[in-house]
Amino acid sequence: MSVSLRVGVVGAAGWLGGAIANSILDAGIVRSENLSLSYRSAKPERFPGAFWTRDNQELAARSDVVIMSVRPQDWDVVSIDAKQKLIISVMAGIRISALRQRHKTERIVRALPNAAAEVLMSYTPWIASKAVEECDRNIVRAIFGACGIQDEVKSERDIDYLTGFSGTGPAFHPCWHRP
Ligand SMILES: NC(=O)c1ccc[n+]([C@@H]2O[C@H](COP(=O)([O-])OP(=O)(O)OC[C@H]3O[C@@H](n4cnc5c(N)ncnc54)[C@H](OP(=O)(O)O)[C@@H]3O)[C@@H](O)[C@H]2O)c1
Repeated sequence: MSVSLRVGVVGAAGWLGGAIANSILDAGIVRSENLSLSYRSAKPERFPGAFWTRDNQELAARSDVVIMSVRPQDWDVVSIDAKQKLIISVMAGIRISALRQRHKTERIVRALPNAAAEVLMSYTPWIASKAVEECDRNIVRAIFGACGIQDEVKSERDIDYLTGFSGTGPAFHPCWHRP
């Protein structure tokens, strides 16, 4: 994979987007000058060498790969035309068909990292649309391999199943049960 890969993270001020950006920088998958990050409310002080913007279309124009990491309810207003670039969504519950239609690209990956990405220990299942070629798959393996363990699954239903399974994790955390 080329070291000149340009990556954009929509929602990089957030928890998961920031963790992914941090992991791929640390792993040397992207150089900070090739990293574009978007925010909505306040521009974070994090990643000073990267390009920060509020304009998600500008982010897409500057990137080869766009990682979509806003909350599903905020995605409604993110209308990037990806111009057939690779979109990787980590948003729970948003289907490949919807991503393809909204972002005008056939190259879609749906992935489900978890909070352990912050400490490089996420198990990340992912699935690719038919148009995603082996070179794109290698990029996905590198990005989520940098966050922990990555695992390509065969069916989108597996992603939905694992969303419900791992998404309920916080309900079992001991902190929630303290008196
Ligand atoms: N956290 C997890 O463990 C986890 C696990 C699996 C999947 N996911 C998925 O990952 C996504 C992000 O989750 P998160 O926990 O990281 O949420 P989060 O901390 O709320 O981060 C989302 C970020 O997106 C920003 N944002 C919203 N609209 C935007 C826009 N139009 N342009 C640029 N930035 C925008 C938000 O900005 P504001 O500061 O203005 O709100 C916020 O900083 C969700 O879709 C979730 O389903 C998360």
